[in-house]
Amino acid sequence: MCYNKGTEINVEKGVDNMKVIIAKNYEGMSEVAAKIIADKVNSKPNCILGLATGSTPVGMYKKLVEYNKNNEVDFSLVNSFNLDEYKGLSGDHNQSYRYFMDNNLFNHININKANTFIPNGKAENIEEECRSYDSKLAEYGGIDIQVLGIGNNGHIGFNEPSDTLSVCTHVTELTKTTIEANSRFFSSIEEVPTEAITMGLGGIMRAKTILLLASGSQKAEIISKLVTGKINTKIPASLLQIHSNVIVVVDEEAGALIMSNDNKLAVSIVKN
Ligand code: F6R
Repeated sequence: MCYNKGTEINVEKGVDNMKVIIAKNYEGMSEVAAKIIADKVNSKPNCILGLATGSTPVGMYKKLVEYNKNNEVDFSLVNSFNLDEYKGLSGDHNQSYRYFMDNNLFNHININKANTFIPNGKAENIEEECRSYDSKLAEYGGIDIQVLGIGNNGHIGFNEPSDTLSVCTHVTELTKTTIEANSRFFSSIEEVPTEAITMGLGGIMRAKTILLLASGSQKAEIISKLVTGKINTKIPASLLQIHSNVIVVVDEEAGALIMSNDNKLAVSIVKN
């Protein structure tokens, strides 16, 4: 599939490489991202997609629904693993991530729902749920392409800023900033769950390709830190700098600081 890529930047850090694509706006970001996913599915029909929820990928999912309806991409053999789920919410709760995925994507494409995996937020034995999620992921051979959003605080999945980060799927307490950010989806902040099950950094970093999306000026600072800052567990997304195949797709607002002339780090524009 071809698309108008927008500005493409390659950020080289030692031997590692992060490709940054700056699209004009949210629509452009969504289109670039959807085409990357569609190309992956077309080249490997039984691929394993790692999927994210939140506001950012909604436009990308809309495009994928459109491509599927136009027979441009076939999800019938695809398997998917989602990053996270709120602890305590069942899949039919309208703020659960299972509900989000069904309504934004799975109900509208020809994926076999039995092949879509999301941690069970209501599991009786939550530790066992985490372990079996990792075993299942390993059994399926790991993720081919992992879609990520990014929290304003640098979280990926619900791996929140901390002195230490976890490798495996685990239960995590959500930080105040994450609870505040996510309260926009609930009728009151008290209703936002305070804990979630999240894939750890191991599951994410083992993905063959990472596709991180960000949109809007409120993400500009964290995107700048992600691309040009040092690796720091207080910014979990910064670990992606040591992954060998990361594509960051942002709109101009989220990319504003990495485009600026003040950027002292080695960011070179290789294509327009
Ligand atoms: C969602 C997830 C989170 C979000 C992040 C950004 O599955 O894992 O890390 O990607 O909180 O959320 P939005 O896109 O709503 O800004």
